[in-house]
Amino acid sequence: MEIKEITLGELDAERFVAEKVKEISSTVGDGLAVNALSGGVDSSAVTILGHKALGDRLKTYFIDTGLMREGEPENVVSLLKDLGVIVELIDAKKTCFDALKGRSDPEEKREAITRSFYRDVFGELVRETGAKYLLQGTNYTDIEETVAGIKRQHNILEQLGIDPEEMYGYKIIEPLVQLRKSAIREVAKAVGLPQEIYNRPPFPGPALAARVIGEVTPKRVKIVRDATTVVEEELSRSGAFQYLAILHEDKVTGVREGKRDYGLQIEVRCWESTDAKIGSPTRLPHDVLDRLAERITTEVPGVVSVTYNITKKPPSTIEVV
Ligand code: XMP
Repeated sequence: MEIKEITLGELDAERFVAEKVKEISSTVGDGLAVNALSGGVDSSAVTILGHKALGDRLKTYFIDTGLMREGEPENVVSLLKDLGVIVELIDAKKTCFDALKGRSDPEEKREAITRSFYRDVFGELVRETGAKYLLQGTNYTDIEETVAGIKRQHNILEQLGIDPEEMYGYKIIEPLVQLRKSAIREVAKAVGLPQEIYNRPPFPGPALAARVIGEVTPKRVKIVRDATTVVEEELSRSGAFQYLAILHEDKVTGVREGKRDYGLQIEVRCWESTDAKIGSPTRLPHDVLDRLAERITTEVPGVVSVTYNITKKPPSTIEVV
């Protein structure tokens, strides 16, 4: 099925919200639906659209894959609670890390996450609740990049020839599929989400796994998580589209206290972009770069080298995996 984009200029957010609420409500009828909230603008907008349409017939979960940022699961659950939406936290760390074990190929890692998320974790939740529908915040860029064969976005199923109903026993509703990020931010604002959410920098579905080169283990995720905390603290005022830390696979020679320290490398990326389709590195002041290097090498155990990516997208991509 051909999906037609609704551009930011074409979007009438209030009308869009009213139409989508009606559509969700008539599709689900008097049944149940489930959705996963990550706290990003896409899944948050979908959560509110779904709750407007279905009330408590929509069960919202935060799936803790073990791949999220520091404190993120608890923060997101509490933020939505303040908006009157109850989100259940599901501990899926073991399932996800087991699926990622021994894999270092980027597409294999993405596939493992898709499988464990949709089949193992969601399949089970759907069976438990008896829901027939899964609501999710797939956006136009996700579809475009997957169809173009650039990256398999973890949430694209039908576009990859996977029939979710046949494979996992539920249908997927994707209310935001015609919109890019900037338009989704308008919808998020229109449904009453706070600025903290509608202006949130993008964060990928595979979470920190998209930022670990090589095998994704709890120990390696902890390193990239700690580096991410520093990068987000230092760059949140930069006004950039997105900023991130990446853990490299190779170790490099460093020196500490006059002795050789064979250690880890963290790459920092900071992007200027409007829709993630193309991007260029932010021209960060050198004192900001200095502070990043200083803090990451002292606050993240084992790191001896910090680099800054100076490549545009294309040929780079925003995430590394
Ligand atoms: P790339 O790395 O493809 O990223 O240049 C483009 C934008 O999409 C985000 N991204 C993802 N989002 N699932 C998502 O929901 C994914 O698998 C995924 N991979 C990348 C990325 O953070 C950037 O904003």
